[in-house]
Amino acid sequence: MCGIIGVLGNNEVAPILVEALKRLEYRGYDSAGIATVNAGTLDRRRAVGKLVNLSDLLVHDPLAGKAGIGHTRWATHGAPSVGNAHPHKAGPVAVVHNGIIENFRDLRAELAENGVGFETETDTETVALLTHHHMSQGDTPVEAARKTVARLDGAFALAFLFDGQDNLMVAARKGSPLAVGYGAGEMYIGSDAIALSPLTDRISYLEEGDIAVITRDSVEITDANGTIANREVRTIQIDATRIDKGGHKHFMAKEIAEQPGVIGQALQHYIGTGSDITLPGKGMDFSQIDRITMVACGTAFYACLTAKYWFEQIARLPVEVDVASEFRYREPPIPDRTLALFVSQSGETADTLAALRYCDGKASSIASVINVPESSIARESDLALPIYAGVEVGVASTKAFTCQLTVLFLLVLKAARDRGTLDDAGLAAHLDALRALPGVINVALGKNDAMRAAARKLSTARDVLFLGRGQMYPLALEGALKLKEISYIHAEAYASGELKHGPIALVDEEVPVIVMAPRDALFDKTVSNMQEVMARKGKVILISDAEGLGEASEGVWTSIEMPKVADALTPILYAIPAQLLAYHTAVAKGTDVDQPRNLAKSVTVE
Ligand code: M6R
Repeated sequence: MCGIIGVLGNNEVAPILVEALKRLEYRGYDSAGIATVNAGTLDRRRAVGKLVNLSDLLVHDPLAGKAGIGHTRWATHGAPSVGNAHPHKAGPVAVVHNGIIENFRDLRAELAENGVGFETETDTETVALLTHHHMSQGDTPVEAARKTVARLDGAFALAFLFDGQDNLMVAARKGSPLAVGYGAGEMYIGSDAIALSPLTDRISYLEEGDIAVITRDSVEITDANGTIANREVRTIQIDATRIDKGGHKHFMAKEIAEQPGVIGQALQHYIGTGSDITLPGKGMDFSQIDRITMVACGTAFYACLTAKYWFEQIARLPVEVDVASEFRYREPPIPDRTLALFVSQSGETADTLAALRYCDGKASSIASVINVPESSIARESDLALPIYAGVEVGVASTKAFTCQLTVLFLLVLKAARDRGTLDDAGLAAHLDALRALPGVINVALGKNDAMRAAARKLSTARDVLFLGRGQMYPLALEGALKLKEISYIHAEAYASGELKHGPIALVDEEVPVIVMAPRDALFDKTVSNMQEVMARKGKVILISDAEGLGEASEGVWTSIEMPKVADALTPILYAIPAQLLAYHTAVAKGTDVDQPRNLAKSVTVE
């Protein structure tokens, strides 16, 4: 969950490291730090909290040098504090680390027996101390780093910098991604391609167990067996200029507003505008598949839950959906003719990646729906389907969710065609509806003022309930997740039919209940449940289309009108009010919308 950057450059490196850390801040923002080697001397600066605190510190207490490493932290071991901030330094070595060293307690005990003392609560300090220990026994920096890495259990990416060595970095990868960037007489390492994108477009990804010894004009990579390895140098395309707020107050607001454009982009990519349609999933034959296992975390998990309704209803294909952290340890049997399908914005979520690896060799095929084509999940899938959402910076996932749903829906259509459950006319109707979707979403975005007004009311609530039925149930779950993660208001979602089996006991005049109910085949059922809430003085915010509001809005606290869309696509459209309600509530409460407390964008530890 932390971000790592390393630069062997030809210019002062501190500002370059800080700029790169800005691009990595989505991985964590509990503290940040850099270390450089200047005239042979290793030194560091660290600050707790957001990166701006480190920038301020560097203004008053600059750090010179053309070689450096940097880190932005999401705390795992030890509270966010300057002492626990990276880089960790022991004698002549500084280390930055992403991941968890699982055997650090054993290593600490061993070092303590040798009289080594500790200054922090982190697992990372052990890495620095062990490397220092080996160097004090006569090992060169590279030998010491190698010996240390060989002792480490867990999932990690590491970068080492050494006193007296301004033309040397060592990088190691086991379980957490790390890329090496190639410049003109400069070399870089970074947690991801986004961090490196303004510095170079030529990168290679380290593989599991790799150690890279890097100088300004060379890189030597050895694999897990210590054998020299060649890692392909790829030219990546990341438009770094797009990583700004584009005039919006928050990245989240920008990313919500971008949805018509990016969904249009995804559709353009997969189905184009002409009549010659290619659905995603080339090479996959769903008539040879008996079931799908879908696995993901958080918002991506709710995208999977939504797709389950579609796969089962439109393609008549049974789907099981699981959260990755449960799936990976439950060791579920994977019957023959099972497609394992993973959904992840980052493509680096540790639990989802572990679940994918569990399925490797068991499922007939492994597919993924990802936003980062260079990610580990994409690279380890038989088929990776990009969602074309563009870089998503806000911790709360918005445009990635609707793009995931769009691509999953296209995959459902492909499955339905392969399995003969959708005829030409049915396919054409779905495609027409999809092509109209960006325009319909634009209309929904135009309801911003109504959402802001409703959010003002929500912002004083302590608890909020979301209700939905059928394919609107996963969306209710997503709405509750969005609200709690950025406004810190306790929110829960229930399938509306479940309410009277317990949760209705929570309802009173203090509890707003948000009902997601397009005027579809299940509308009357949902409205009955809504009436039960109102009979108990619950304050209902009803989100429906004109027809639905015309029939059922009497007596509700607030109503929000959505445009009409094809029934199957309502979960995509109704994501807009779910996102905007959460956004405006958070703004009204004054929380940190883009970087809510305790969270990180990319969850690369389990
Ligand atoms: O990168 P991923 O899609 O694998 O991330 C999964 C979740 O961590 C993510 O969706 C998280 O729940 C978001 N903060 C939700 O807004």
